Amino acid sequence: MHKDLNNIKSLESPPKVIKNFINSDEIKQFLKLYNELPVTVNNIKQKVIKKRWIEGYGKDLEPLFQEKLKSLIGDFKMDNLITEDKKECFGLFQESISPLKLHVDAGFNLNDLIYKQTLILLSEYGETVIFKNRFYGVSTSFTNNENELLENSSENFKKGKNTRSNEHLKMFTDKSFNKDHHNKYLKHEDINNLKGLEIELVYNWNLGDLLIFDRTNLHCSSSNIKNKKIGLTTFTKK
Ligand SMILES: [Fe+2]
Repeated sequence: MHKDLNNIKSLESPPKVIKNFINSDEIKQFLKLYNELPVTVNNIKQKVIKKRWIEGYGKDLEPLFQEKLKSLIGDFKMDNLITEDKKECFGLFQESISPLKLHVDAGFNLNDLIYKQTLILLSEYGETVIFKNRFYGVSTSFTNNENELLENSSENFKKGKNTRSNEHLKMFTDKSFNKDHHNKYLKHEDINNLKGLEIELVYNWNLGDLLIFDRTNLHCSSSNIKNKKIGLTTFTKK
């Protein structure tokens, strides 16, 4: 569990969408930056490409992004993984064609005062599902799949992979997940893996918007994907 629970909880707020956070010209610049960056992860099984926005790339965009974000969420520090050669990282671009499953991005250092995470939408079609339920441990993927639970290994953690856990099934209520919501948004998840969860927001992606939510919120993609989705995620702490 995170050490500074009271302060973390005092910083929590409902998810928020900022319409047109960046304009069409800035969208083009972010996509250009995305194309220029080296690939960090190309996971064929999960059908996801990840690229870190590292220091030295997109130099004009960096102050613009930091200032705009500061005007919305106040003072913050970036909490993205620093690269092997100690370069600062301003966010993580993710391009995916299959929906991300249930997880939380609460970080890896339990002494940190984790704060907001943000997502800039760089493609037209997609949905993010944010749950009312929260978790105060480290970054974790929540699964009831025995094989996935076996993926917990020090080797995988070194690679930056999340802990796999099913402890969420004992943490909330025994109430089955809403069948309509499952059918509409979460067909890629086993409904039994969603026991006790309640949706707070289904955000329908709009190019150039910014989605802000707490790092303690459980979330995932919805199953409604047409083509590939591209987003830029940033994690912050106080
Ligand atoms: Fe996430």
